[in-house]
Amino acid sequence: MKEDIKEILFDEETLRNKIKEIGKQISEDYAGRDLILIGVLKGSVMFMSDLMKEISIYCCMDFMAVSSYGDSTQTSGVVRILKDLDYHIEGKDILIVEDIIDSGITLKYLIEYLKGRKPNSVEIACLLNKPDRRKVDIDVKYLGFDVPDAFLVGYGLDYAEKYRNLPYIGVLKEYVYK
Ligand code: IMP
Ligand code: MG
Repeated sequence: MKEDIKEILFDEETLRNKIKEIGKQISEDYAGRDLILIGVLKGSVMFMSDLMKEISIYCCMDFMAVSSYGDSTQTSGVVRILKDLDYHIEGKDILIVEDIIDSGITLKYLIEYLKGRKPNSVEIACLLNKPDRRKVDIDVKYLGFDVPDAFLVGYGLDYAEKYRNLPYIGVLKEYVYK
């Protein structure tokens, strides 16, 4: 698996330190509020579990699964809900936890969808951002790192469902998907 990685962008320690920072900020900002973290399956799973451990206030977690990619590295532009929330979110403070923003289409859709359930607030915590690829405007309250326009895997991010178990985030060699 390692031989398919061209370059490591963020190693375990770098990720840990950044996530600590974000968790601390969230704990301050949401103190005394009714926080629900909503992870977008499956890419956000590692980020979600590490982030949650760095949050020192009461919070709940829920998950949604959406599909916009299939096995390709290009977004289809169509978002489908594969798994909806377990909980009612009316009046709650919602933080969507996502691995990476590319075109922004997935998150834009999710925000509008969740706002329809009348939460008190909806914000985004996203580990990675590809600013050069954005197609729709999105406000990200908590961001880990900006990244270049390359296909990244590891720490939850996949190519065709593989590489999620790499403990770091790296650039996938092009021969794998071209
Ligand atoms: P968007 O709707 O174009 O913003 O796509 C966001 C989703 O695409 C993310 O949740 C990821 O699942 C996936 N994605 C985008 N870029 C990458 C990447 O470099 N590696 C792995 N998955 C990616
Ligand atoms: Mg995703």
